[in-house]
Amino acid sequence: MGFDRDGFVSECASAVKAGDPLGAGVGQLLERAISDPNSIEAEIGDRTTVPSMIVWHRSDEMTIFHMVWPPGVDLFAHDHNMWAAIGVYGGREDNQFYDLRPDGRIEPSTGKTLTRGDTANLGIDVVHSVSNPTREWSAAIHVYGGDYFAVPRTMWRGDTLEPAPLDSALISQAVELAAESARTTSERNPEV
Ligand SMILES: [Fe+2]
Repeated sequence: MGFDRDGFVSECASAVKAGDPLGAGVGQLLERAISDPNSIEAEIGDRTTVPSMIVWHRSDEMTIFHMVWPPGVDLFAHDHNMWAAIGVYGGREDNQFYDLRPDGRIEPSTGKTLTRGDTANLGIDVVHSVSNPTREWSAAIHVYGGDYFAVPRTMWRGDTLEPAPLDSALISQAVELAAESARTTSERNPEV
């Protein structure tokens, strides 16, 4: 059977309602869905030349969205202040994790590369930056254990790693710039 988007959303909502404080239950549901990337692509479409962030569910308890990122994107380090489950069904997403210092600045720690079919569960305190260093568009399903758009968050500028309130316009701008650059590159090299 193919991927059932509404069924997936309601299963995740049920898991959260039943008590899933670290997102482990949702992580398992996402892992199962992502293990069959072809059926997700068949249901919600392949990656396109347009970045997108389409919200499938938003409540105080949980946010789910479908994310498409361009090649070359490299986003500021940020926190979520809630657990997250990330599942990549196309392309690649490189995570750089950071340790938070007492002065509020961050320093790089470990990293994790997610490729097609991979999932990751991120804890409530995680700080990460995400990039797609490939020439392929990446596509993922993200689930968060709260209202992603309402909870105050912090970002860290790449040059200083100093904290600042998260500026979603700045992040959208970085995504759009990478998308424009990817489109220009593929026009110049149509065989790529
Ligand atoms: Fe994130």
